[in-house]
Amino acid sequence: MSVQVIKTQPIEGQKPGTSGLRKKTRVFMEPNYLENFVQSIFDAIGGAEGKSFVVGGDGRFFNVQAIQTILKMAAANGASRVIVGQDGLLSTPAASNLIRQNGTDGGLILSASHNPGGIDADFGLKYNISNGGPAPENVTAKMLARTQEITEYKICDAADVDLGTLGTYALEGMVVEVVDPVTDYQALMEKLFDFDKLRALFAGGFRMRFDAMHAVTGPYATAILETALGAPAGTVINGVPSEDFGKGHPDPNPVWAKTLMDEMMSESAPDFGAASDGDGDRNMIVGKGIYVTPSDSLAVLAANAHLAPGYAQGIAGVARSMPTSAASDRVADKLGIASFETPTGWKFFGNLLDAGKATICGEESAGTGSDHVREKDGLWAVLLWLNVLAVREMSVIDVMADHWQVYGRDYYSRHDYEALPSDVADDVMGDLRDQLSALPGQVHDDLVVSVADEFSYLDPVDGSESHGQGIRIQFEDGARVVFRLSGTGTEGATLRMYLQSYASGDQDLFRDTQEALSKVTAAALEISGLARTGRDAPDVVT
Ligand code: G1P
Ligand code: ZN
Repeated sequence: MSVQVIKTQPIEGQKPGTSGLRKKTRVFMEPNYLENFVQSIFDAIGGAEGKSFVVGGDGRFFNVQAIQTILKMAAANGASRVIVGQDGLLSTPAASNLIRQNGTDGGLILSASHNPGGIDADFGLKYNISNGGPAPENVTAKMLARTQEITEYKICDAADVDLGTLGTYALEGMVVEVVDPVTDYQALMEKLFDFDKLRALFAGGFRMRFDAMHAVTGPYATAILETALGAPAGTVINGVPSEDFGKGHPDPNPVWAKTLMDEMMSESAPDFGAASDGDGDRNMIVGKGIYVTPSDSLAVLAANAHLAPGYAQGIAGVARSMPTSAASDRVADKLGIASFETPTGWKFFGNLLDAGKATICGEESAGTGSDHVREKDGLWAVLLWLNVLAVREMSVIDVMADHWQVYGRDYYSRHDYEALPSDVADDVMGDLRDQLSALPGQVHDDLVVSVADEFSYLDPVDGSESHGQGIRIQFEDGARVVFRLSGTGTEGATLRMYLQSYASGDQDLFRDTQEALSKVTAAALEISGLARTGRDAPDVVT
């Protein structure tokens, strides 16, 4: 046995954020950086001895190299079996599915999600537990603690595993299974959705464009949309994963998926457009001439899920992250089912899904998913939308108009101020916190503050508490602004300002979003004194 025990020392700043540890790629490539974190994961879960894992990533630069290291460390730590996606590829939802389907103890997913990839861009590593979902806070806290006291790690001195060829390999005493990344995921989708109806939809001339953004969903979308469902070749664009995502920013929103947006807003737009992010868990939905906000998409999917075979029995409840708009709450109210408001980050949905309290979950940041896995799932959202459109025989714009008439419309936008000096961002948040008790009753830009607080969450399943999850300011007319600091950035601090205002179904439901939000935006800028950042506009508006 060629296990080597390597002496090491703690490295500063290995604190897992909203979704795992995310750093500059060059930082991850520093001596012992990845190794320390991987050993800390194994130590935090009580060792890897006899355990099984799923390992895969989004194909960004350093993906395969990092996987080879993880395999050698898993073997040295006594793991019995590791399932790896061919060429090291697994979308985050597909990895979640493999963990559940194979009953492994957990999984290591390599991705920095929608952040750019490359040696000068970002890298990330996240641990998922046996339910297939991101490690909850009590587990990530143990990982962090281990990173701060680590003195050694174990690794095998062995040759690399051939990740390019499907098959079963031995690495010391550990079995490595290299599997097709798409097969099992596709089988799951075939169970949930009416593939015959979708084939008929495309055969009838329905056209869509799916932008895989040079990231991991390319092979999944091509296999499902083009090969299985018969959508014409070319339906999937940017479908070959590349190490630097074609030098792009694999974030499916109107800013970064601009080419797709432009096409969808043009005369020659196809019926439906969609995009997914680096690791395939996020989605963007756009119809001919209409962009669907993720908050609205969650609400529409919750209202219509019963039209797909996998949800024909109805859904138990809907959960959304706190900054996500109230649109899905309105659907839950009408359906007479539970709605939940959780802190930002998919890990907070895990308990609700496991307990059967929620069936569909979503975040304003383009994440939607259900209890079929324990991650958000970009292609799942696309297929559910297609299934709804196929059954209702309506266009996206008509589905939205109909939805808003019934429930009213929550105009919604997020303004991000990126790479702020951390002390400036902390000041803004600190001052907001100090004002909370004085805000109710104050008038800002004609809007009267009704409630102001800092969001805390009490998990209804395990009773755990999470504090400091963002500042909420609610106005009397139903508008709201939320401020929070990003937990996924790799440079300085990112301040997110989430804006929302409500229009009932009898009002004009097709106003320009930023215009409809102008009052709450002005009030939010005034209350927060954001001008002190020296920025006169947000970096990204979605
Ligand atoms: C962001 C999103 C959040 C999402 C996370 C991981 O986190 O806002 O909804 O769960 O990415 O995809 P943040 O940077 O805001 O902490
Ligand atoms: Zn992602």
